[in-house]
Amino acid sequence: MPDLTHKIAVVTGSSSGIGRAAAMRLAARGASIVVHAAKNRAGAEETCAEISRLGGKAATVLCNFADAEARSKFIDSAWNVWGGVDYWVNNAGVDVLTGASKELSFAEKLQLLWQVDVESTIHLSREVGRRWIAEKREGAAIVNIGWDQSECGMEGDSGEMFATIKSAITAFSRSLARSLAPQVRVNVVAPGWIKTSWGETASDLWSRRATAEALLRRWGTPEDIAAAIEFLVSPNSGFITGHVLPVNGGLDHSHLPERDE
Ligand SMILES: NC(=O)c1ccc[n+]([C@@H]2O[C@H](COP(=O)([O-])OP(=O)(O)OC[C@H]3O[C@@H](n4cnc5c(N)ncnc54)[C@H](OP(=O)(O)O)[C@@H]3O)[C@@H](O)[C@H]2O)c1
Repeated sequence: MPDLTHKIAVVTGSSSGIGRAAAMRLAARGASIVVHAAKNRAGAEETCAEISRLGGKAATVLCNFADAEARSKFIDSAWNVWGGVDYWVNNAGVDVLTGASKELSFAEKLQLLWQVDVESTIHLSREVGRRWIAEKREGAAIVNIGWDQSECGMEGDSGEMFATIKSAITAFSRSLARSLAPQVRVNVVAPGWIKTSWGETASDLWSRRATAEALLRRWGTPEDIAAAIEFLVSPNSGFITGHVLPVNGGLDHSHLPERDE
């Protein structure tokens, strides 16, 4: 188990799902956490409260990453919370599958995903890396979030959108790892089907598909992804950079999906 005492971690999008699990996991190892959400202050504060209950330290910073100016200010705010940053996890991602955004057109969803998932990962990672190099900070690490099926592709609107978006994040991260080496490590976790808000409300057909596409025959949990994030920021992965780690229960290529149209 890594000891992350005296380390400071920013986990974007930690008001729910994977981000909350990652924030809690890093806090449980001793790191002080900057919890972030776009607008869900109650969710972010619930994450902070859970961390306090575990005896950890956490504070919330809100920022809508669709707003480029606000996003730039977010880095200063995050840096100031605990007096520096050691680990940066770009986990925030727009939910275009549930809630109001579900009704947007394909083009509108793609635009939102591009701004929030891709542009914010690129801009935040570049600026954070630049600061760490200037500070000569040792042991710093970035973890970005991809998607396991972006490599093989998936049919339909969601497949076309998410494969494009998460492939862009993965390609960028591999390149940034080269730019920031040897001082800063950059890696990607590529989740499979993880039971967060969309998974909780997924149809029976999608639930069958999610479990059938994993060799381990179950949905992934936010904690499965949090464990991989913990590994990739911690010194236990100190000789790993530019790597993409699928956490998907083993993608079962033999499964032929049922169609829901
Ligand atoms: N679940 C899966 O199966 C799966 C698979 C592959 C990849 N992923 C990726 O894993 C990441 C986390 O997913 P999740 O399932 O845990 O999602 P989630 O529970 O919906 O959490 C998404 C987080 O992103 C934040 N966010 C949304 N829009 C934002 C914006 N405009 N600006 C800044 N932050 C924003 C949310 O903040 P608010 O609460 O304030 O909206 C929330 O904290 C995402 O990047 C997702 O694409 C998930």
